Amino acid sequence: MLSRGSVAIDLGTVNTLVWVDGRGLVLEEPSAIAIDDATGSVAAIGTAADALADKEPKDIRVIHPLRDGVIADLDATAEMLHGFLRKSGALGGPFRRRAVVCVPGGATWVERRSVIAAFGTRRSRWAVELVDEPVAAAAGAGFDLSAGEGGFVVDVGGGTTEVAAVAGWRVVRAESLRMAGNAMDEAIISAARSGLGMILSQRAARQLKAELGLTGGPEGWAETVGLDAARRTPRVEKVPGDLVAGALGPVVSAIGTTVQNVLSDIPAGLAEDVVRGQVRLSGGGALLPGLADRLGEVAGIGVILVDDPLRTVVRGAARMLQA
Ligand SMILES: Nc1ncnc2c1ncn2[C@@H]1O[C@H](COP(=O)(O)OP(=O)(O)OP(=O)(O)O)[C@@H](O)[C@H]1O
Ligand SMILES: [Mg+2]
Repeated sequence: MLSRGSVAIDLGTVNTLVWVDGRGLVLEEPSAIAIDDATGSVAAIGTAADALADKEPKDIRVIHPLRDGVIADLDATAEMLHGFLRKSGALGGPFRRRAVVCVPGGATWVERRSVIAAFGTRRSRWAVELVDEPVAAAAGAGFDLSAGEGGFVVDVGGGTTEVAAVAGWRVVRAESLRMAGNAMDEAIISAARSGLGMILSQRAARQLKAELGLTGGPEGWAETVGLDAARRTPRVEKVPGDLVAGALGPVVSAIGTTVQNVLSDIPAGLAEDVVRGQVRLSGGGALLPGLADRLGEVAGIGVILVDDPLRTVVRGAARMLQA
């Protein structure tokens, strides 16, 4: 049977999730692969590879093969995907398997082809179906798309923010902004450099983002460790919430503008569904403290943070396996 052992995959810029039909969510790891340049072999994938990022071990090159939601390094993506599928127990067997894979709504034809190519470079035979990430997000956010229900979703990932009105498994209006969690990290890194004279790793920036966000967190500051930019020695610093909120301002404004653009363009027939269902905020970036409230002010209608936002897209894609 074609559906036995079918997989739904959210191949994200930061995280990859694999769902196997009949077994559920079996893998959830960073989209990363470490290559040993001395031997040309794969040293690690996923969590183990990502843990080496920024640490520069000898001969090891850590690659995050997706950028802005799309494949930037095809060979590395194919290797990583193969490793993830093997780990998920989704390789082998006599059957041709179905794979539903999410791509950003704004992905070009070439970018879509490269996702199919990433499956094709290995022996296993896959029937790959691409699904627009916002449609999967809407299904995962609880909209009953099979019944023709419409909805409005904002998925803030690592590389892209997908803003879309959808109805009946199709996009109605959408914009894909190539700016999300990674852009927030970069903004914090650059503010720490200019405001505090500190060099932060992406890991440190992510912690500050999650702890302080737009609200400054419970204390109004958070401790971080980085390098002093002048002396190049480790330094511990209390980072004020204002510095982080200020750094995040432009990214959050761009997300807000995108929401306004899409919202102001929906057909009249969808207005009631959107108001009733409210704007549903998903993706890891949705967890940014204060983001839902900020977008609520911009949208003028309620914005709800969906349950388990990091898994919304794969949940929706899994639903498509059964649709
Ligand atoms: N508590 C948090 N606060 C703010 N951001 C967070 C939090 N938890 C995770 N993130 C961010 O969410 C992003 C990852 O989200 P997600 O897994 O949805 O992205 P992705 O699907 O890999 O990317 P894309 O959809 O753009 O391809 C990262 O930038 C991460 O730092
Ligand atoms: Mg995503």
